[in-house]
Amino acid sequence: MVWMCPHCTQPLEARESGLLCVNGHRFDRAREGYVNLLPVQHKRSKNPGDNPEMVQGRRALHRAQLYRPLAEALCDLVATCTDVSTLLDIGSGEGYYDGMLSERLPDLSVYGVDIAKSAVKLAARDYRRHHYAVASSRYLPVMTSSIDLAMCIFSPVNDTEVARAVRPNGYYLEVGPAAQHLWELKTALYEQPREHPLLRRTIPDGTLLREGECRYEKQLTQTELQAVVAATPLAFRGHREKREALREQSDFLITLGFSWRLFKLAPERETGANGVASDDALESSDL
Ligand SMILES: C[S@@+](CC[C@H](N)C(=O)[O-])C[C@H]1O[C@@H](n2cnc3c(N)ncnc32)[C@H](O)[C@@H]1O
Ligand SMILES: [Zn+2]
Repeated sequence: MVWMCPHCTQPLEARESGLLCVNGHRFDRAREGYVNLLPVQHKRSKNPGDNPEMVQGRRALHRAQLYRPLAEALCDLVATCTDVSTLLDIGSGEGYYDGMLSERLPDLSVYGVDIAKSAVKLAARDYRRHHYAVASSRYLPVMTSSIDLAMCIFSPVNDTEVARAVRPNGYYLEVGPAAQHLWELKTALYEQPREHPLLRRTIPDGTLLREGECRYEKQLTQTELQAVVAATPLAFRGHREKREALREQSDFLITLGFSWRLFKLAPERETGANGVASDDALESSDL
């Protein structure tokens, strides 16, 4: 068990109905199997993170296997890290990549955090062997140096917290959109579409081990197209009339492009005390 009490930073122990620390802080397990480790003072809005429509859109596009080539590439990559047994998915969404990973690597202990309760609910309900918590990437509720590999797929991350959570010589895997990801959709919705910025090539306390891109085209049905729009900020950006016009499209050829970087963390580091993250490195990737 790697969970840490968000109130006093002591380890949390599993009890029948939830988690408990030595200071008596108790976190009930929800019916779906997750715990809520997000204290109200760490919340910036009533319902933070992706809204339920975005979460459902993401689930639909994953169920349609649109991002499967990426998931397979990530499974191949994680399988090469033979000294990894505990993985933390930061901004885990509805758990698609976790599910693919534990199918391929059944001995992996999978932990996931997301700030959106609706996402964590779906993930916990469908992947009962994984451990999920509602939590923020700013204050990861895991013990210092308890994680072999942390990964962050299209989600905001805090470098200080990653460096604290991952053990010396552990790994950090970051995945984001490649420059032309969803390009045809952007040109259909925006007057002046812009390419995605490149993923960063350095992190504090880490060296780049491997990097790669995964790019392919797909012919989308109208249902799949709407799932992609719903899962992304494209659902509320761009021209409304242009969004409406997309509803008339029966087949839509689209570019899907992802870029990933695998970092190895330094052997000896100043990891700091549990739960002392600053906000400096929190980044938001929108797709
Ligand atoms: C684009 S989705 C990606 C989800 C998942 N990684 C995937 O690729 O299917 C971004 C996720 O980050 C979550 N998120 C946003 N801000 C967060 C934060 N501060 N801490 C944890 N999760 C956050 C959202 O709720 C959402 O589920
Ligand atoms: Zn406590």
